[in-house]
Amino acid sequence: MTTAAARAFPNIALVKYWGKRDEDLILPVAGSLSLTLDAFATTTTVTLTDEGQDSFRLGGDEVAGEAAHRVTRFLDHVRDLAGASAHAVVDSTNEAPTGAGLASSAAGFAALALAASRAYGLKLDAPSLSRLARRGSGSAARSIIPGIAQWHAGHDDASSFAEAVDAPDMRMVIVTVSTAQKAVSSREAMRRTAATSPYYPAWISSTEESLAQMVDACAASDFTRIGEITESHALRMHALIQSCEPPIRYLAPQSIAIFDAVQALRGEGLEAYATADAGPNIAVIVRPEQAEDLRDALAEFGPARLVGPGAGAALLTDAEAARAGLSEAPA
Ligand code: PMV
Repeated sequence: MTTAAARAFPNIALVKYWGKRDEDLILPVAGSLSLTLDAFATTTTVTLTDEGQDSFRLGGDEVAGEAAHRVTRFLDHVRDLAGASAHAVVDSTNEAPTGAGLASSAAGFAALALAASRAYGLKLDAPSLSRLARRGSGSAARSIIPGIAQWHAGHDDASSFAEAVDAPDMRMVIVTVSTAQKAVSSREAMRRTAATSPYYPAWISSTEESLAQMVDACAASDFTRIGEITESHALRMHALIQSCEPPIRYLAPQSIAIFDAVQALRGEGLEAYATADAGPNIAVIVRPEQAEDLRDALAEFGPARLVGPGAGAALLTDAEAARAGLSEAPA
C-alpha cells in the first residue's frame, strides 16, 4: 500500500511525563499514565511520492521550518524500519487548538505513526507502534492505546512503550483557558528543568512512587485515590517547572481559580480532581454520573467540554479520510 490514513486522539496524563533520560530515543526519566480522549482528533494521510522531498500540510496549509523537519525526522525512522527510501506527502487535520497544552502533538504523532508505517508497508503490533510514536513526541506513545494507558519508562528503545490498564470508567471536563501557542515548548522546558531545577531528582523518585500508587488505585477501581494522585501529581509537576532558572509558568490565574473551584466542589459532594499539562488549560476527572453537573459548574471559567475515554489510533477508509477534509490521495 502506498497511501494510508489514520486517526488518533490526544491524551491527558494523570501521572505526568516530564523529563527525558535519552533525548534521541525519547526515553523518559519515569513512567506515566494517561487517559486517551474521544475528542480533538488528528486525522492524517500519508502518500508515498516520487518527489525528491517530504511535504507536510496541516489544515490544508503547507508547513515549513521546524515543524516540517520534525515530520521528516520521524519519517526517517519509518523509512529505516521499512528499509525504504521514498519520500512522502503528509496531510493532517487537527481538531484541537495546536500548541495550547491539549497534547495535539500526541494525537499528531500517533496518527502519523500508524498512517506512515502502513503507507511504507509495515504492519506493526501495538507495542511497536507505541515505540514508533514515542520517537515523534513522548506522550504520543500513549495515544496509540485506548482509554487508560501506562507508558513503561523502560531502559532502551525496545522496553519503552505504552499499554492498556484496566481502570474504573470516568469522564473528563476540559476547560479552555487560552488557545494561544505556549511560550516555551515542552521539549525546551524539560531540558531547562533537568539542567536547573534543584527539585529534579525528587521529581523522578516521587513520580515512580505516584505511578506505582496509581496503578494500584486503577486495579482497585478506586476513583477517589486516582483523583487524589492525579491532582497532587499535576501540582508537583507545575511546582517543578516553576522552579527552573529562568522560571517557566504555564498556569494562568484563571487556571489556579479552576483548581480552587474544583476543591470547593468536592466540599459540596461533587467529586472531581484537576490536572493541567504544559499550558493553562485544565482537565478535570469525574465519575460518569456527575460529569454533566461538573461541566455546568465549570462553564463560568471558559468553554467547558465533556469528554470520555477514546479509541486508540485507528486506520481510516478513503471515505472516512475524505470526510475529515483531507485531500484525496493521488491515483
Ligand atoms: O510529549 P511531549 O514532549 O509534548 O510532552 C508532554 C508533557 C506533558 O503533556 C506536560 C505531560 C504528559 O505526560 O503528557
